[in-house]
Amino acid sequence: MNSIKVLDKEFVPYLSEKEIQEKITVLAMQLNKDYAGKRPIFLSILNGSFLFTADLFKQITIEAEVCFIKLASYKGMSSSGNVITAIGLEANVSGRDIIILEDIIDTGKTLHHYLPQLLSSGPASVKIAVLLNKKEALQFPVQVDYTCFDIPNKFVVGYGLDYDGLGRNSKDIYQLK
Ligand code: XMP
Ligand code: MG
Repeated sequence: MNSIKVLDKEFVPYLSEKEIQEKITVLAMQLNKDYAGKRPIFLSILNGSFLFTADLFKQITIEAEVCFIKLASYKGMSSSGNVITAIGLEANVSGRDIIILEDIIDTGKTLHHYLPQLLSSGPASVKIAVLLNKKEALQFPVQVDYTCFDIPNKFVVGYGLDYDGLGRNSKDIYQLK
């Protein structure tokens, strides 16, 4: 793997396609076990999680559903930390077991703000599965139940993750140089 340039920044190889796919296989096996007979709903948070969701879901062998929402946070002037739902939840989650799929947990702000909204719809259970967990960056209390990789507090791109919209279409994950 070679370094790549995305816009003005240089990124160095961090996690290979092989490492990523191996961890996803392990996670899928665990979820197949933990949710056997429960018909969970995988709730994928767009945009970053689309490749993670696709690769994981292909390896789910139990009865399961998948749906997508899009969350966005206001940045800049307002420090209120508002998170808005740009594409909402269509599924009826009442009484259902939900597994949230996120590409990366950074400060935890996005999920911390969204969870109460989801819980108000009365799911039977909610667990969070993430590809990447920047543990040191966590500022808002969010309990992550399944993690593929714990990573340091450095910006990453690739495999769905972007820098200013670019870099998502890489099979490997790169770290800012
Ligand atoms: P919070 O702080 O709400 O952040 O946990 C979650 C969202 O922030 C984005 N994010 C990143 N995107 N490389 C990216 O491409 C990163 O290193 C990174 N860190 C956070 C991402 O959209 C995630 O859903
Ligand atoms: Mg994201």
